[in-house]
Amino acid sequence: MSTVLGKASYEAAIAATRDERMAWWRDARFGMFVHYGLYAQLGRNEWAQSLENFPVEEYAKLAETFAPKPGAPREWAKLAKAAGAKYMVLTTRHHEGFSLWDSKVNPFNSVNYGPHRDIVREFVDACREFDLKIGFYSSLMDWHHPDGWKCAYDNEARRRFLDYIEALNVELLTQYGHVDILWYDVSAPMESWEGWDSLVRNQHLREIQPHLIINDRSKLAEDFGTPEEHITAASRDWEACMTFNGISWGYVDEEQSKEYAYTAPRILKMLYTCTRGGGNLLLNIGPKPDGTVPKDAVGPLTAVGEWLSRNGEAAYGIHAKEDKYGWHGGGNGIASGTRSADGKTFYLWTWIWPHGGEMSLGGFRTAPKRVSILSTGKEIGFEHDGERIKLRGMPERCPDPSGVAVIKVEFDKEPEYRCFSRYPQLSGI
Ligand code: GLC
Repeated sequence: MSTVLGKASYEAAIAATRDERMAWWRDARFGMFVHYGLYAQLGRNEWAQSLENFPVEEYAKLAETFAPKPGAPREWAKLAKAAGAKYMVLTTRHHEGFSLWDSKVNPFNSVNYGPHRDIVREFVDACREFDLKIGFYSSLMDWHHPDGWKCAYDNEARRRFLDYIEALNVELLTQYGHVDILWYDVSAPMESWEGWDSLVRNQHLREIQPHLIINDRSKLAEDFGTPEEHITAASRDWEACMTFNGISWGYVDEEQSKEYAYTAPRILKMLYTCTRGGGNLLLNIGPKPDGTVPKDAVGPLTAVGEWLSRNGEAAYGIHAKEDKYGWHGGGNGIASGTRSADGKTFYLWTWIWPHGGEMSLGGFRTAPKRVSILSTGKEIGFEHDGERIKLRGMPERCPDPSGVAVIKVEFDKEPEYRCFSRYPQLSGI
């Protein structure tokens, strides 16, 4: 094993390879999270064991009745592909401590209990079949392991537990071939990278898979930030992880949760906000006890995928890092935009199609060369008047069946743009 670098040198070393390692991730913009484990059987949130103070032995009985139906991971991957997601992240072992793979270091696993199957293997095979990048969620906190809490105050327990955590992750990164993302979660009870020995462990793991992308939840900044249940842009790479209902990551009764479920336009709005801010959207599904995807997720996700097959150019591969120009008012207005990396193309996502098809784009001092509906390629007439592009002959109704269309505005060069140009007091100029 090579020498372990100090924190500053390690961070410089991974920063030097980041652009190359993360090129696909920055193009992807959209991934699917899957929270699946014993907790699906309770249907009361993946934190139920802790929230309801289950004795460990009582909770562990769920391992015997855990019964994923054959082909469940394939169903997830098929849906992810249909949704237009480019990668998936599976909870290989959530806080409950149950490994969904054939682990030698954790006998509490899905090969020894329940289905007697390696669910991670099935997941990996399904991702490869549908050409999706592979992400492994891996909890640091563990409610099943006897040292899971003791590690905070007993040094021997800490050593044992850290060896255990390392061994679990080594298994994940050696048993399944090429893995793209390691998605750590919850660093309780130690709460520091020193406590978790993250510097040493992450270097070991990167030696096994040098192209690996690691998130920021082992208390080191690593490759990307992970805003949870909110979409907040950052100057570094980031990925917003969102539940499907604002209630739970793990399965909860679908008849009730469907009232909270996101619709296709709401998902597109989230995807837009992430894309515009230079981030990714990792949208979760919480499969039912047998692994079936809740109905409330299937329809909207499929519609999002169909939308992306028509309009993906406005999201995939967009690397906007700054809010250079756009069309967005309070609540983002009726429409708002992303732009291509070279700044020459502006994609206006219309949340509400303008009544009667009448609309202008303010702030552009440069005339476009072409304006069209992205999904159909149909041109829209325009007139450039000072700092205003007046669109002419737009369809009366939204031309996209989802209710969200994209107007593509192309320029010969990066346009001169000044938002609020008529009202300088608003823009501070
Ligand atoms: C949290 C929760 C968890 C969920 C995760 C997803 O930290 O503990 O249940 O898996 O976030 O981001």
